[in-house]
Amino acid sequence: MPGRPFSLTTPIYYVNDVPHIGHAYTTVAADVLARWRRLLGDDVFFLTGTDEHGLKVQRSAEAKGITPKEMVDRTAPAFRRAWDELDISYDDFIRTTEPRHHRAVQDFLQRVYDAGDIELGTYEGLYCVACEAYYTEDELVGGNCPVHGRPVEHVVEENYFFKLSRYGDRLLEHYARHPDAVQPDYRMNEVLGFIRQGLHDFSMSRTSITWGVPLPWDPAHVAYVWFDALFNYCTAMGYGEDPARFDRFWPVDYHLIGKDILRFHAVYWPAMLMSAGLAPPKHVFAHGWLLVGGEKMSKTKLNQIAPSDLVADFGVDGFRYHFMVDQRFGPDGDFSYEAMVTRYNADLANNFGNLANRVLNMAVNYLGGVVPDERADGVLVDAAARAYTQMEAHMERLDFAGAFGSVWELIRATNAYIEERQPWALNKAGDAKATAAVLGDCLEALRIVALLSSPVIPRAAAELWRRLGLPGRPQDARLPAAAAWGGLPAGARLDKGAPLFPRKEA
Ligand code: ME8
Ligand code: MG
Repeated sequence: MPGRPFSLTTPIYYVNDVPHIGHAYTTVAADVLARWRRLLGDDVFFLTGTDEHGLKVQRSAEAKGITPKEMVDRTAPAFRRAWDELDISYDDFIRTTEPRHHRAVQDFLQRVYDAGDIELGTYEGLYCVACEAYYTEDELVGGNCPVHGRPVEHVVEENYFFKLSRYGDRLLEHYARHPDAVQPDYRMNEVLGFIRQGLHDFSMSRTSITWGVPLPWDPAHVAYVWFDALFNYCTAMGYGEDPARFDRFWPVDYHLIGKDILRFHAVYWPAMLMSAGLAPPKHVFAHGWLLVGGEKMSKTKLNQIAPSDLVADFGVDGFRYHFMVDQRFGPDGDFSYEAMVTRYNADLANNFGNLANRVLNMAVNYLGGVVPDERADGVLVDAAARAYTQMEAHMERLDFAGAFGSVWELIRATNAYIEERQPWALNKAGDAKATAAVLGDCLEALRIVALLSSPVIPRAAAELWRRLGLPGRPQDARLPAAAAWGGLPAGARLDKGAPLFPRKEA
């Protein structure tokens, strides 16, 4: 029986950039959530992809003397490679230049047009090519784009406008009925404040460029890149092509985005959907900036860090763990290499890795490398139950740091239990039953640690699972049953193996 449907997305990234740790941050978070929901038995649809139309792409292609299509075919694969390298378990990777998307966007455009929400007008404004967005004079900082710090361009065009101004009340009503539709709550306040100031119609077509999706009723215009980009989510969920699948996964459970694109996702997008008679997203979660040396990463500042550089030093799991646990998912946070080394050594090499080593070594030395029958059923029974309940509550709020913090509590509790019960002393005293019972508890706790940590460190979790003599992979287990105490079968052969997370020198 298929589980409850759960759909989630990352932004689709612009292909004129190369993947950096900022993109990876959102993508890893989405992956952790997807893996968690699969453990809960949900039928997950996890979508990522690339945003390939627009002026920026057209201009860089012109500068290189190639067609925009050649250009995106060269650059888009870098994102897929980056996500494959990070074990991102996406179910679909959409490119906005695919025929399925072209068809779906045209259908959507026509629906909004037929609803009377698209009208012809003249646009004159200040445009930032890097943002693909217009700004008003007072939004500029020192005359430049507030996001990129680069000069804006004065543009006059005959454009079609989307009548966003008609949607203020409907959006406010929608958010009053769904107060957690935008998260964290301070982002909801921002969105409500913006809507209450009064919404302006926005220009949704361009004649100055050709690299986009033509409007079905006036092909001299192409759709504004954001109008086309946002609809990727619906295309991939089966809009137009597979109505049953679309009904199953739409409205999306979670759009995960950075705070830079909150307005697009929480104001423009729901209004566009309402106009077409489609439901708005259930939740939009906008996280903060990952800063490097206190500054936003940018091509021009040369402070972008490629995920593969850190993976080379810390491994895939080390990378994923750091970004999910080092800071809360929500506010801005600073990345530092030194902090990454410290956390890796403390949490992965020492706590997680040492616990696994210690327990497996003792079990091999004292119990002949076989899972015993005995359990002491001591304090770890409650510690394990608490780890699961707390993790679940944190994951419900997308508090990844809190969630894995709960799992690490169980690791600490197990280490403390070993210190207190001293299995080496029990073994020396010849008390085989007591030795087996204490180590039985520790092995059981390790199983639950492997299971609950698998969304964030899938490789080490699977390896620990194997070393515990468990069949299959942790991701094939089903929560909450699998987290219950007592799931480790006696008699299984243990394998102590090499350190899971070798220590790093600072
Ligand atoms: O905006 N810290 O694409 P984009 C945290 N194509 N997250 C960061 C980050 C940082 N320093 N830098 C980037 C676009 N991100 C559009 C989206 S969606 C229909 C279209 C992440 O390539 C974060 O998720 O500029 C941010 O929202 C996204 O990358 C922007 O990616
Ligand atoms: Mg951007």
